[in-house]
Amino acid sequence: MDDRPVSSNIVRSHGQVTPEDRAAQLGHKAYTVWFTGLSGSGKSTLAYAVERSLINRGVAAYVLDGDNIRFGLNRDLGFSAEDRTENIRRIGEVCRLFQDSGLIVLTAFISPYAADRDAVRAIHPEGRFIEVYVDTPLELCESRDVKGLYAKARAGEIPEFSGVSAPYEPPGRPEIRVDTTLPLDDCVRQIVEALDR
Ligand code: ADX
Repeated sequence: MDDRPVSSNIVRSHGQVTPEDRAAQLGHKAYTVWFTGLSGSGKSTLAYAVERSLINRGVAAYVLDGDNIRFGLNRDLGFSAEDRTENIRRIGEVCRLFQDSGLIVLTAFISPYAADRDAVRAIHPEGRFIEVYVDTPLELCESRDVKGLYAKARAGEIPEFSGVSAPYEPPGRPEIRVDTTLPLDDCVRQIVEALDR
């Protein structure tokens, strides 16, 4: 894809506040913690629980959730491969802004394509993009079917459903892999301890 802006005659501006200034003010560095996994794998539940845990410790954290973003910023996008790529590209840019602001952003998007996730990683400073693979097998997501979407997808009522009629490419080398058959508290602890390191 051509990643040059459509606009001409635009020039980047720079402020006076450095990333170090922001880290000093907040007491921590900025990170993007990128949860990826199938629908119903537990990404949002985990991201919100980690957010709670971080906020309790005085860390400035905020969750971007797939369904929520599709009500607003990305309400013009559907679930074709192209739209999913654009979904993740825009979220990636939002993460880059959070990164600049010094906050910790936790994202919960299926983000099924490895290349899209890698493109988000590539616009982050080295080491500031933490990929968390919420490794819940399809059978388990489907048996839970919290939103009833797998049943609909199997009945042919939802086309291009991830894991059923659209691909999901698992991360090859995620920074963190979560086994959601363990209790939620254990999963949260695993992630928070990894972030501490
Ligand atoms: S992504 O593939 O573009 O990253 P995103 O995380 O924004 O997906 O949205 C996924 C959510 O949209 C799912 O959790 C589910 O609630 C809903 N959804 C509706 N239709 C689909 C579909 N065809 N495939 C996957 N998720 C869908």
